[in-house]
Amino acid sequence: MLLHILLACLGACTTLAAAPNPRFRISPLDGSIIALPTADQLAFQDREFGMLIHFNLATYISIDGCNGVPGLVPEPSLFDPTLLNTDQWMATIVASGAQYATLVAKHNCGFATWPSKVRFETRDNTTSGYNYTVADSPVKGEDVPAMFTASAEKAGIGHGFYYSTTVNNFLNVQNSLVNATWGPGEIRITNETYDEVVIAMLTELWTNYGSLTELWFDGGYSESVQDQITSLLQELQPHACIFNSCDADGSACLSNNSIRWIGTETGLPNAEIWSTGVTNDGGDPTSPFFAPAECDTTLQEGDRWFWGANTTLRPLEEMIEVYHQTVGRNCLLELDLSPDRSGLVPAAYAARYKQLGDFIRSCYGAGNAAENAVESRRGANVTLTFDTPHLD
Ligand SMILES: *[C@@H]1O[C@H](CO)[C@@H](O)[C@H](O)[C@H]1NC(C)=O
Ligand SMILES: *[C@@H]1O[C@H](CO)[C@@H](O)[C@H](O)[C@H]1NC(C)=O
Ligand SMILES: *[C@@H]1O[C@H](CO)[C@@H](O)[C@H](O)[C@H]1NC(C)=O
Ligand SMILES: *[C@@H]1O[C@H](CO)[C@@H](O)[C@H](O)[C@H]1NC(C)=O
Ligand SMILES: *[C@@H]1O[C@H](CO)[C@@H](O)[C@H](O)[C@H]1NC(C)=O
Ligand SMILES: *[C@@H]1O[C@H](CO)[C@@H](O)[C@H](O)[C@H]1NC(C)=O
Ligand SMILES: *[C@@H]1O[C@H](CO)[C@@H](O)[C@H](O)[C@H]1NC(C)=O
Repeated sequence: MLLHILLACLGACTTLAAAPNPRFRISPLDGSIIALPTADQLAFQDREFGMLIHFNLATYISIDGCNGVPGLVPEPSLFDPTLLNTDQWMATIVASGAQYATLVAKHNCGFATWPSKVRFETRDNTTSGYNYTVADSPVKGEDVPAMFTASAEKAGIGHGFYYSTTVNNFLNVQNSLVNATWGPGEIRITNETYDEVVIAMLTELWTNYGSLTELWFDGGYSESVQDQITSLLQELQPHACIFNSCDADGSACLSNNSIRWIGTETGLPNAEIWSTGVTNDGGDPTSPFFAPAECDTTLQEGDRWFWGANTTLRPLEEMIEVYHQTVGRNCLLELDLSPDRSGLVPAAYAARYKQLGDFIRSCYGAGNAAENAVESRRGANVTLTFDTPHLD
């Protein structure tokens, strides 16, 4: 399960100098507000369909992530993908028809799949490295975000990262706050140091892996880091689109390239969907904020995001319905991809993604584009006749 709740305004909500303003113009015809998109938002919307890749230490535990279990800090020695192959992930993504992929670089356990060099002060007056990364695992020497980036660039797929700022079991953090009751052997830090760690790790991710398409703030971000994240984005990744960028009244957004959550993880929002508004629903045609909706959902049954032993897959017919209710209704579809413990997308999963891609291509692909249609004209009327789409 993901944590979509925004925590930006838990404390006193002040007007933040760095927070971007809404961009809109007033209709000369009726005085109504017309929200204006950025070029990056339009380019992102054109991608229509992407993937959210859940591959991290939680792939190696029985439950679906460390969410809601503050004491759970699985051993980094569990992370052992002996067949890790991000080109194979990309082959699956291309076959599905998806146009971008966002990788979970750090989830709520706290484990980083890149060899972070971040160091910080502890309350015991020592400095510590962030020793809960791939460099502390059996595949030390690997850098999963780097492999993923190289594969995505080769495949022509946009790439980005998910880094949850509000929960970090390794550093004893829930709701962006360090719990001052520590277990034996736990690293003790202050709340201020935690914020510094977040900024330092985001700086690594946003500096070393090219130009990023999408960044995910699952659970949002705390007010204490909001201004820093806003400026860091402008400095390092000005073109990235930001999931969970705005709080619910739009008084704070991390970027003008904002993307909002649709409010359900089923992929079946069953709603009219506007590209404007900041609330986690179908949006608001009168809002001054342009923030396209993204519909995230899983291929595995039961809202399961990390690979799960014996998890069944949703049938093709249901995934086609998901596609029509999301992409067909102006939502970006972000479908989960869950490589298994070997580091590969399981064959049965890859086959189901390809079936979905085959459907999308057969129904909406180039073979059915207007240039292949038979055109006839009667006076001012033009009629285009297409081949009947066929489902295999
Ligand atoms: C967002 O748009 C507003 C209004 O056009 C502008 O003042 C602001 O500089 C923009 N912010 C960023 C981060 O581009
Ligand atoms: C750490 O240093 C500060 C300032 O010098 C001191 O007040 C504090 O007692 C020290 N803490 C520990 C655990 O040694
Ligand atoms: C990280 O380093 C600290 C201090 O050296 C140590 O107590 C802890 O066990 C290490 N954690 C891991 C996961 O290696
Ligand atoms: C802090 O951790 C302790 C020990 O695990 C727990 O009992 C307590 O509820 C936690 N406090 C908060 C605010 O989560
Ligand atoms: C962090 O801040 C919270 C809220 O003020 C406080 O309860 C907690 O004890 C602080 N954590 C530490 C390590 O000081
Ligand atoms: C998965 O299924 C196999 C074979 O039926 C069984 O042995 C195993 O315990 C199951 N694993 C889980 C986690 O349910
Ligand atoms: C064009 O289409 C309209 C609407 O269907 C119809 O009323 C009109 O007769 C058509 N014109 C011609 C020249 O076919």
